[in-house]
Amino acid sequence: MWTGRFAQQTADLVQQFGESISFDWRLYRHDIRGSIAHARAQVAAGILTPDEFSAIENGLKAIEKRIEAGEFEFSTTLEDVHLNIESALTADIGPTGAKLHTARSRNDQVATDTRLYCREEIDNITLCLKELQKALLDQAEKHPAAPIPGYTHLQRGQPVTVGHHLLAYVEMFSRDLSRLADTRQRLNVCPLGSGALAGSTINLDREVIAQELGFDGVTTNSMDAISDRDYLAELLFNLSLIGAHLSRLSEDLILWSSAEFHFVTLSDAHTTGSSLMPQKKNPDVSEITRGKTGRLFGNLIALLTAVKGLPLTYNRDLQEDKEPLFDSVDTILLTLRVNSEMITAMTVHTDHCEAAASDPMLLATDLADWLVREGVPFRQAHELVGKAVAESLASQTPLDKLDLPAVDPAFKPEANEVFNLAKALRVRTNPGAPSPVNVEREVARWRAELGD
Ligand code: ARG
Repeated sequence: MWTGRFAQQTADLVQQFGESISFDWRLYRHDIRGSIAHARAQVAAGILTPDEFSAIENGLKAIEKRIEAGEFEFSTTLEDVHLNIESALTADIGPTGAKLHTARSRNDQVATDTRLYCREEIDNITLCLKELQKALLDQAEKHPAAPIPGYTHLQRGQPVTVGHHLLAYVEMFSRDLSRLADTRQRLNVCPLGSGALAGSTINLDREVIAQELGFDGVTTNSMDAISDRDYLAELLFNLSLIGAHLSRLSEDLILWSSAEFHFVTLSDAHTTGSSLMPQKKNPDVSEITRGKTGRLFGNLIALLTAVKGLPLTYNRDLQEDKEPLFDSVDTILLTLRVNSEMITAMTVHTDHCEAAASDPMLLATDLADWLVREGVPFRQAHELVGKAVAESLASQTPLDKLDLPAVDPAFKPEANEVFNLAKALRVRTNPGAPSPVNVEREVARWRAELGD
């Protein structure tokens, strides 16, 4: 493609080192779509005749079909997806194909292709995230009132409901959805027409190209447009945070499915056995999910590092943006899909959850609240309940069986009425609190939000 000024062939090792076709072939649909829009604008600018345009359009569509059918041979000598397609077009339709690259560079081409790719994948990831939210929502709806311990420091803290716990993840994933939508909106401008870095002396109608490609507008500085990879950094960050949320969910499920907790059983279809210990049933999906978070973070850091030292405008380092991008998109899509399926098929053992939540110690704070309602300042109430807890431990008497007035006369015999788990949950009705009524209302709100 650039033999004009070179006296030597590119060395084999350089070709091997610099090719990107082995991974950027995945951009072929976007590349072809961009080329057709670009060619159409060339007709309007008088560079191509309508017949030449038809030849280019049909030629590109035929190439697309061949790629889809696995009948297109990509060549590493032609470096990347852009050169592979352009050179096949010229081979197929003759010299007209050689007109396509007028007023265009691979620099604005690749920036356009990757924006189109990201836009499409954000839409796919959005659907998968909503599926996961629905899986969580279905489980929350089944168990709006089932008590379960809420933990801080992985120590039992206060009782909550199973539904409330699961809805916490629905909240996290909804923030992820809004971040994705935000990134999508920001990336949806068309760089085509920026050329190598300084536009072109041949002015194509950029607005029309942008419209054809479904962009909301055009980029407004050719140098920035060529070198901007912010949208990739944003997307890779968004995917990293989704990964972090999935990893936290995994950790809960790994704990919950252990014999020690026994709060859930994962289906046989979503667990694996041991090659040595016949009784084992392992939560591999959750573990792999937790493990894959590392590569999502790594991909983000790889991209940020590639970008950070670059002077304006395009530098070949930017080619290193694609493998992390593709890997993170592939990883998150599969991770979301398998987790949705696993959560749908999971059984919650509400009896075990309730047994764990029935430890009266979990209502120690409610007991302090009772004293507060009797007029005792909270710090003093905390101290008095602390004494009762110490007495309970020392005498090996459950907190709800203790003679509380004997610990301190501030406790009246009615104080014992605090130890009613169902009631303790029922009264937590403030917005955001875990009462069954709240959980039911939140499930309905999320259903409406997710259009379910
Ligand atoms: N394969 C290249 C990339 O991914 C396309 C742009 C090449 N531009 C250039 N000036 N060599 O970045």
